[in-house]
Amino acid sequence: MSPISILPADRVFVLTGAGISAESGLPTFRASDGLWAGHRIEDVCTPEALDRNPWLVWKFYSERRESCRAAQPNPAHIALAELEQRLGDRFLLCTQNVDDLHERAGSARLIHMHGELSRSRCEAGCGRPPVEDHAVYRSLDEVGRCACGARLRPHIVFFGEMPLEMNRIEREIARSTVMIVVGTSGSVYPAANFVHWARQAGARRIYIGPEAPLNAAAFTQIVEGNAGEVLPGLFQAE
Ligand code: APR
Repeated sequence: MSPISILPADRVFVLTGAGISAESGLPTFRASDGLWAGHRIEDVCTPEALDRNPWLVWKFYSERRESCRAAQPNPAHIALAELEQRLGDRFLLCTQNVDDLHERAGSARLIHMHGELSRSRCEAGCGRPPVEDHAVYRSLDEVGRCACGARLRPHIVFFGEMPLEMNRIEREIARSTVMIVVGTSGSVYPAANFVHWARQAGARRIYIGPEAPLNAAAFTQIVEGNAGEVLPGLFQAE
């Protein structure tokens, strides 16, 4: 297909989901063989699960750390890092993914709205900032402690918790003129609402993925295909 132009006056807000890392070998959540087919959300991804059985939660995220370590950025991650190089501060990437493939591809203007696999923070919420933690734990006894003495928890936004940096995200969408959404099913809020906020801001709204997302009707253009095949060369920045 012919390239989509990004004009000198444009500001671009990008939202990515699990689909962008699928071609790196990381499973998505809602595919028939996805992560939520093999694990119950309420066992591994809620504050209540952490209270009830912290090891089940840590085991799940330790396994995610292990698969993330083995994965490499794919051409879609690289294409977005290159677009950022061309647009500088007219570009912001917000990802729902907790893997680090965007930064390993070279993205720097990046928000991890659902947290990061490579960090942990105080389970008791003492207020100390998250710490870098790449450990793959084999038992709950191995899990590190915060300086306050409480156990660490994964720096992940669980279901029922508020995504990170929402004020900044809202501000950036309000002043964007182009929204690019890649590889997300449009089923988890508030991220699924971003396209509506972009519509209110009068921005062009482009979705890239192999199938239309649940919120497809809010986009101005759907580009069907795998992100790693479609994204490189899709945008022409002036
Ligand atoms: N390229 C682009 N998109 C793809 C590809 C690909 N190669 N392969 C699959 N997809 C698309 C699927 O069509 C689907 O729409 O990726 C999407 C993945 O959807 P989900 O599994 O629902 O993942 P996501 O939308 O990122 O989930 C949002 O839900 O469970 C929570 O916190 C978790 O951040 C996650 C959030």
